[in-house]
Amino acid sequence: MNKAAIAVLVSGGGTNLQALLDAQTSGALTSGEIRLVVSDRAGVYALQRAKRHGVAGEILPKENYPDAHLFGQDLARLLEQYQIDLIVLAGFLSILDECFVQKYPHRILNIHPSLIPAFCGKGYYGLKVHEEALKRGVKISGATVHYVNDIPDGGEILLQKAVSVQPGDTPASLQKRIMEEAEWVLLPQAVEMVSAKIIKREEGK
Ligand code: GRF
Repeated sequence: MNKAAIAVLVSGGGTNLQALLDAQTSGALTSGEIRLVVSDRAGVYALQRAKRHGVAGEILPKENYPDAHLFGQDLARLLEQYQIDLIVLAGFLSILDECFVQKYPHRILNIHPSLIPAFCGKGYYGLKVHEEALKRGVKISGATVHYVNDIPDGGEILLQKAVSVQPGDTPASLQKRIMEEAEWVLLPQAVEMVSAKIIKREEGK
């Protein structure tokens, strides 16, 4: 295996996916290649970004899956079909069930827009994270890349980057700064790091 095959799971604008695609183009991401983008809803801009980059896009509409276990089964089938080695949650809003997560130990990464263990866990996503950080009056926030396990935002932390909170920040301005200064920097670094580990492990077999 000369590159790890990566699937990126999305639910929205896909700016973190774009950071990965740009890293692939610039050569910052060389140990992995993005082979598939899976969205849990149709019509999201992340799928446009994938198409523009010539990456396969698939949709598993969340409304078709009242049961997370069935979603996980169909997702696993897709990943098998594309022979995926590493799964990256990038602005992905659906919960993956325990049975799915346990199939991929140390093979699923997530980017969370706070310095875990602050402002994370069930219900903490999108602007809500930054609303709570500002409400608490923190002076520093940031982003975290962690492995995914069966506890929401509870997996082993891989990388973190701090971002200062500015006077007068709104949830939107803080989110923007954390995305630009932390998320879009950390995720490509983490994906390159873990992809290189996967290749090395495969070569060692
Ligand atoms: C953002 O809130 C980001 O912090 C989090 O998911 C949301 C959308 O990300 N990771 P994206 O633009 O879809 O990558």
